[in-house]
Amino acid sequence: MSFSVPFQIAIDGPVAAGKGTVSRLVADRLGFLYVDTGAMYRVAAMLALTKECSLDDGPAIAEIISQAKIEMNNPKEGEKDGRLTTVVVDGKDVSWEIRTEVVSKGASTIAVHPEVRSVLVKKQQQIASIQNVVMEGRDVTYRVLPEAQLKIFLTGDATVRAKRRHLQLQTRGQNTTFSEVYQAIVDRDTHDTERATDPLKKIPEAWEINTTDLSIEQVVDLIVNKVAAMRNQDDR
Ligand code: DC
Repeated sequence: MSFSVPFQIAIDGPVAAGKGTVSRLVADRLGFLYVDTGAMYRVAAMLALTKECSLDDGPAIAEIISQAKIEMNNPKEGEKDGRLTTVVVDGKDVSWEIRTEVVSKGASTIAVHPEVRSVLVKKQQQIASIQNVVMEGRDVTYRVLPEAQLKIFLTGDATVRAKRRHLQLQTRGQNTTFSEVYQAIVDRDTHDTERATDPLKKIPEAWEINTTDLSIEQVVDLIVNKVAAMRNQDDR
């Protein structure tokens, strides 16, 4: 598919709604770039933790990430180990380091700081200004890409989301109980929804897809078919 201006698909939603997997597959089918904005908040948390910077110090964390070189690419042949995106920070592959529970919680904590959000949102807008993207996160539909041609709110029942995340963690050899995973998901959703700056929310014009009873493939088909229909409409 070719478009005269970058075609932007913005997807927001709570933890483990399937945003990452769905976005990666939609991007592959359409030949778009997949951008995981959560990975950037995770990098910010990881850097703050390794540099022993307080997670409450927004300006200091914003300064740290302004100086870091963050690269996000599609996984190359030798990197296909279940990751959806390869994240390199100052030359070091941190794709898995940013997926631990400590970093997950830290990302939700540092995401409240307006200074941090401002730096990351600018980086995200820059990426989406030059190429077709499927970009997912919490504020993409209304803050990062308010002009996106397609805006989606991907959601799902918390128990089903926790089951999926638990299975994912077990596959990676991480030993956590279902109730720990469920509680962590609920806590993170509450924190992301209730923060003052750019919380997770569904805007009225976003297309809500509830993934509770749908397979990943069904969700991907819904979105790809929608883009094809929009494209046909444009061609008329
Ligand atoms: O999508 P994720 O679980 O990898 O995101 C990690 C945290 O980053 C999440 O708890 C909230 C924050 N986040 C955000 O505030 N805004 C975004 N656009 C993406 C993620």
